[in-house]
Amino acid sequence: MSPKTLITGASSGIGAVYADRLARRGHDLVLVARDQARLDTLARDLHARTGIAVEVLRADLTDDADIARVADRLREDGDISMLINNAGAGLGGLVADQQASDIARLIALNTTAVTLLAHAAATRFSRQGSGTIVTIGSVVGLVPEFANTVYGATKAFVLFLSQGLSVELAPRGVRVQAVLPAATRTELWDRAGADLSGLPPMMEAADLVDAALAGLDAGEAVTIPALGDAGLWDAYQKAREAMLPEFANTRPAARYLG
Ligand SMILES: NC(=O)c1ccc[n+]([C@@H]2O[C@H](COP(=O)([O-])OP(=O)(O)OC[C@H]3O[C@@H](n4cnc5c(N)ncnc54)[C@H](OP(=O)(O)O)[C@@H]3O)[C@@H](O)[C@H]2O)c1
Repeated sequence: MSPKTLITGASSGIGAVYADRLARRGHDLVLVARDQARLDTLARDLHARTGIAVEVLRADLTDDADIARVADRLREDGDISMLINNAGAGLGGLVADQQASDIARLIALNTTAVTLLAHAAATRFSRQGSGTIVTIGSVVGLVPEFANTVYGATKAFVLFLSQGLSVELAPRGVRVQAVLPAATRTELWDRAGADLSGLPPMMEAADLVDAALAGLDAGEAVTIPALGDAGLWDAYQKAREAMLPEFANTRPAARYLG
């Protein structure tokens, strides 16, 4: 039987490229996003080109009932063996100039939905002893200096979530990968209200996804396609791990003692 993958945010950008690449790998697909017409067109095209079965599941992943519907599907459809937790958005401006309602919506989409869908997949995959959860973070989650603070915080959350799930689920036979794109040419920038004349040079979404899938095939828990020297990430992890024994100290450090 063909593997089946559920992709959120499949109607454009990185998610649409995942749909194309996984269809070419013979995966049946469940495509999730808000734009039904776009998803229907993509589904017809993928089926015509590759012969895979494609289903469209329209959902607004800032809406609790819609999140629950997609989570139920992940819990109940025993054929789905991979989740691409990709849907997300950006938010321009400094925190003090942003609207609270926009921040709440960003957090719902970029963290709440991602967590609840990962939870639903983790529950069933760990029971089955197999499955794969891929989550799209961002290098922005590593760089508070960018002053893209709430967006970066959601992506730092997603990285931690993915790394923690990897620790928890690897012994149960479930693969977990975080993908951290840097600037990638998609609609995200326009949707976030960025000044399109001042954008940085960008990676193509197709190159990003091909690299992410190569990282997945290589068994990476964290894939950063733009990072040329993988040793830099390993050194960053080692610096973090070097602190761990200190966290067992039961007395405050000497510099805090009067
Ligand atoms: N582009 C970059 O430079 C970059 C860099 C780092 C990380 N990322 C991450 O990559 C992921 C994909 O983004 P992208 O760059 O491919 O941008 P994109 O082209 O704007 O795609 C975003 C996708 O998410 C869906 N989506 C947005 N809001 C939604 C909602 N409320 N409910 C359900 N689906 C929703 C959109 O579909 P509908 O509008 O049809 O709902 C679309 O399919 C995001 O998590 C983003 O943070 C992007």
